[in-house]
Amino acid sequence: MPTEKDVINSLKSVQDPELGRDLVSLGMIQDVKVQSGNASFTIVLTTPACPLKAQIKEAAKQAVASLPGIETVEVKLDSKVKAMPGAREDEVLPGVKNIIAVASGKGGVGKSTISVNLALALAQEGAKVGLLDADIYGPSLPRLIGTTQRPVASNGKIIPVEEYGIKLLSLGFMMPDDAAVIWRGPLVSGAVKQMISDTDWGDLDYLVVDLPPGTGDAQITLAQTVPITGVVIVTTSQDMALNIAIKAAQMFKRMDVPIIGIVENMSYFICPHCEGRTDIFSHGGGEKAAEWLDVPIIGKIPLEPEVVIDSDKGVPTVIARPDSPQAEPFKEMARKVAARISVTACVKVDAVIK
Ligand SMILES: Nc1ncnc2c1ncn2[C@@H]1O[C@H](COP(=O)(O)OP(=O)(O)O)[C@@H](O)[C@H]1O
Ligand SMILES: [Mg+2]
Repeated sequence: MPTEKDVINSLKSVQDPELGRDLVSLGMIQDVKVQSGNASFTIVLTTPACPLKAQIKEAAKQAVASLPGIETVEVKLDSKVKAMPGAREDEVLPGVKNIIAVASGKGGVGKSTISVNLALALAQEGAKVGLLDADIYGPSLPRLIGTTQRPVASNGKIIPVEEYGIKLLSLGFMMPDDAAVIWRGPLVSGAVKQMISDTDWGDLDYLVVDLPPGTGDAQITLAQTVPITGVVIVTTSQDMALNIAIKAAQMFKRMDVPIIGIVENMSYFICPHCEGRTDIFSHGGGEKAAEWLDVPIIGKIPLEPEVVIDSDKGVPTVIARPDSPQAEPFKEMARKVAARISVTACVKVDAVIK
């Protein structure tokens, strides 16, 4: 009869395809039990949004089932998001494991739409998520999320609003809708710092930060206040938007912020009548930028009239129609972001250990 050790040994042959290492050496196997032909164990993934979890579970099940004497195999999936090294010791946000900045070169490319759907898709997978709207020039979170709640203060800290299971904060919650605010550099830095440091974000796996477009004070303040796990660059495929997106990405590289990847938004249009595909802007723009910056494309989101309808109603697409073809590209993007962060966190943890 195989022992628990035999089960663990058999799992050494199963790799996490994303991380390129076996489940045992990654410390992902727990609670191994063998009882009269029945083996059971838990795989602790590095993110609940792991794109390959079904595949990993099946491979592990088969590896153990092939041991002579094992009749049934019970595999449980759990997850524990790895914190970016340095994130835990960071005194500003000790409970936040990863900070994902969402940036773009110019406005109107869908950065806020991407941020909101990214945050909610990660939460739908089971992660603890916060979303900070740091686009102080055009805060759009209250409208996109359709809430009338307002943050409150407690013990000298701002308590974020909660909707759809995520924590939310935006200057838009604190300003009248039609207020035109003139921001000077130091005020921008102060506002961004306050929304990070003076806010009770609690324990989060991911804090998504929707930045203003371009390369200004908000970006610099964020990078100087907290360690950013990585930045997602949103662009359309249009040359102008791309060139500016590349400039924004280069600024993050210079500040030693890793680039998670590029999301090409409003990339194409599927005709609802004939189902033919039209590339809105020149085709392959995102690839060009990705190649230039040596980072992957982690999402191509089509232009979808439903996305606008959902945004106008204040119910983001992944919530309004979670199982629809419109939600799928956002969910796929979220899983890719989570996977890229897991890989980076593991590689960095290894580097720290060595
Ligand atoms: N994939 C998409 N399909 C259709 N409309 C979109 C899509 N992404 C964004 N939009 C629309 O484009 C406009 C700008 O998007 P927004 O997210 O506010 O951009 P940004 O934050 O970059 O300024 C909004 O009206 C939004 O509803
Ligand atoms: Mg915006």
